[in-house]
Amino acid sequence: MFCLKEEVGTLVEALSSSPVIDWENTRRTHLVISDVPHYAVEPMVRLVQERGVKVWLLTCFTFTYDAHLDHRTLRVPAGFRVCRLGRAGVRHLLENAKYGGIPLDLMYRMAEGVPYIGVYQDPTSTQEARVDPENLPVAGNEEIPVAWCCSGPSGDVAKLITDERFRKRGFGKLLTATLARRQTALGFIPHAFVEANNSASKVMFENSLGWSVTHENIWIIDCQAPI
Ligand SMILES: CC(C)(COP(=O)(O)OP(=O)(O)OC[C@H]1O[C@@H](n2cnc3c(N)ncnc32)[C@H](O)[C@@H]1OP(=O)(O)O)[C@@H](O)C(=O)NCCC(=O)NCCS
Repeated sequence: MFCLKEEVGTLVEALSSSPVIDWENTRRTHLVISDVPHYAVEPMVRLVQERGVKVWLLTCFTFTYDAHLDHRTLRVPAGFRVCRLGRAGVRHLLENAKYGGIPLDLMYRMAEGVPYIGVYQDPTSTQEARVDPENLPVAGNEEIPVAWCCSGPSGDVAKLITDERFRKRGFGKLLTATLARRQTALGFIPHAFVEANNSASKVMFENSLGWSVTHENIWIIDCQAPI
């Protein structure tokens, strides 16, 4: 949601009197209003509740990546490689996502156009290797990654997970930097939404070169949304 403080009243009025939001459909499916600035939270909550949608509020930090502040050479340890996700990787990403609800076919198509990447085990890799975000190989269609993330609908770094058995080895940092550099090359502004109570993710981004908190905002989510 992008709205100046002085325009909140106009926005709420417009949403109340226009069909921009299909309230009937929203009551049956899901509603997420993301990145709501603090000054717009109360009027927006009132609006959706008046339309019969029960919501809860989630505080999020937006971390934004500045490639100029990160000149590291990215490296992956021996025994692993970084690839674009193949079909099994995309399916695995979606099946494990906290916020799903996106058709798999659409995810397959998205993965062809924007970065969807993962760290894979690779017994043929005998030494540490350089990762070039511009020339990532594509994983086999049956391969499952040990860590993965994708570009979300708003261009955010989304659905990041490292398999529990492979945590704290630097894969989260490596993937977010690789994805962010590829997104920068494509003209996006790389950013990631971190829930305020997700301390592991917050620490990871705080300790990652190039990333810093640029916004703190609220997400308004309907009570039926799967979490
Ligand atoms: C957040 C997550 C992706 C981190 O993955 P990871 O591969 O373990 O991350 P890294 O190994 O690159 O760790 C990066 C930094 O975060 C720190 N960190 C990782 N997990 C941590 C934890 N549980 N508590 C505190 N710090 C943690 C590491 O110490 C490391 O810091 P350092 O490099 O200064 O030592 C992983 O914990 C995870 O999958 N969590 C569940 C899903 C999730 O929350 N995703 C993020 C949504 S925004």
